[in-house]
Amino acid sequence: MKFEIKDTYSGDVAILLTHEADYVPAELDALEAGLAGKVKAAVEAGRFRGKAGQSFEYFLSSDAGPKKVILVGAGKTAELTDAELETFGGHAAKAVLNSGYKSADIKAPSARALAGARLAAYRFDKYMTKLTDDQKPSLETITLVTDNVSAAEAEWVGLAAAVAGTEMARDLMNEPPNVLHPESYADRIREMEELGIKVTVLGEEEMTKLGMNALLGVGQGSVRESKMAIMEWKGGGDEAPLALVGKGVCFDTGGISLKPGPNMQDMKGDMGGSAAVVGAMKTLALRKAKANVVGLVGLVENMPDGNASRPGDIVTSMSGQTIENQNTDAEGRLVLCDVLWYAQENYKPRAIIDLATLTGAIIVSLGHDNAGLFSNNDELSSQLTAAGLAENETVWRLPMGSSYDKLLKSQFADMKNIGGPAAGSITAAQFLKRFIQNDTPWAHIDIAGVAWKSVDKAPTDPSWASGFGPRLLDRLIKDNYENA
Ligand code: BES
Ligand code: MN
Ligand code: ZN
Repeated sequence: MKFEIKDTYSGDVAILLTHEADYVPAELDALEAGLAGKVKAAVEAGRFRGKAGQSFEYFLSSDAGPKKVILVGAGKTAELTDAELETFGGHAAKAVLNSGYKSADIKAPSARALAGARLAAYRFDKYMTKLTDDQKPSLETITLVTDNVSAAEAEWVGLAAAVAGTEMARDLMNEPPNVLHPESYADRIREMEELGIKVTVLGEEEMTKLGMNALLGVGQGSVRESKMAIMEWKGGGDEAPLALVGKGVCFDTGGISLKPGPNMQDMKGDMGGSAAVVGAMKTLALRKAKANVVGLVGLVENMPDGNASRPGDIVTSMSGQTIENQNTDAEGRLVLCDVLWYAQENYKPRAIIDLATLTGAIIVSLGHDNAGLFSNNDELSSQLTAAGLAENETVWRLPMGSSYDKLLKSQFADMKNIGGPAAGSITAAQFLKRFIQNDTPWAHIDIAGVAWKSVDKAPTDPSWASGFGPRLLDRLIKDNYENA
């Protein structure tokens, strides 16, 4: 798909933004004299009133100009937020992708609508060998039509980078677990050196020397070697970096504490936190962000095996703290605790954010519309909350406290890796907090409910994997961690 920006209409279909206060725009007359009046009459006969997500199609018979006009509703008034413009762009693209037409113009005041269109145009069909032409999208070009082309083009540089990071996160998550495992995943991350990112990959031998036994224990039942990949982007000055840490469990069977069969295939997405970090690093490099950011991902596969870790095993983490593994399905925190510790020991970051598909319990708490946010820092929490609202990737903060922390007490080791039936997402966060040094500003984002979804999807989220994360992190950095 090609994405362009122009100030005139040239495509097969013209898509106009409308809203409830003005759902048949006078702008239609720019396409054909008297068109607004004709469309108005047709619209009034039906139910289209410019509500967000509603659309209305009108065919034109003249030889020149577009063959069809589509009005797409975007909100209550002309005062639309960027997030609403993005959703509008998604609805607009969805209306034409498989229509048979090859090119479409979307008229909108900012390139954010084009970002929404590109998010909606994403496909993951590389393993579909039998698609007929009718099952493939017809659309080849989407053009943003806007009055100020140069402003929109400048805006598009950053937006296209953010969408590219999202696309990468989606690709990584959608890949099947026989293709994307810790070894092949590390290879894909190594390819990011082309973007100017410094990549280091540690294997089991190096991680053993470092004492990362919590992470290594999770991967010890897998025939694939566990890896930790580190991506450094140095666009800032000498300041300490922001550290982004991701859970990269390429497949989570639960291990010896085996998960039930139904829907276990979804656990290929248990590397969603790492995909968010990798995608964000790509975005930062593509737009040459003026910030120092280091991304660290723990890549493992959690398998049942003769060599797999057992419930009751005690491991000594890199921090020196011992952990009784009471449930091998609570593996994400075991991976993260060592990567978090490594990040702090080696980078002394100014702040640290981890993302993980950590608990099923967060889906019980928040459903699929907000990621769970846990933090030791109010400022970082508000920055993330604002970034989420701006990017349609919202987070909702949940409480922490010493009464929850007590639930991790073990009779054999410094802690156990599960709390109990109550407050499962919070006890997971409390576990991670034990590996944060000296009140370093830290946020943990539990994305188990938002990383993938099969029902009630936004138009900008067309595949199984949402690609949640890169845009949230990019916005956080752009608004708070970047030198002007
Ligand atoms: N990867 C899962 C969490 C998960 C569940 C992600 C559903 C996405 C959808 C995690 O490793 C896990 O298994 N967590 C356990 C923790 C429990 C054993 C304390 C869970 O949520 O059941
Ligand atoms: Mn698990
Ligand atoms: Zn998991």
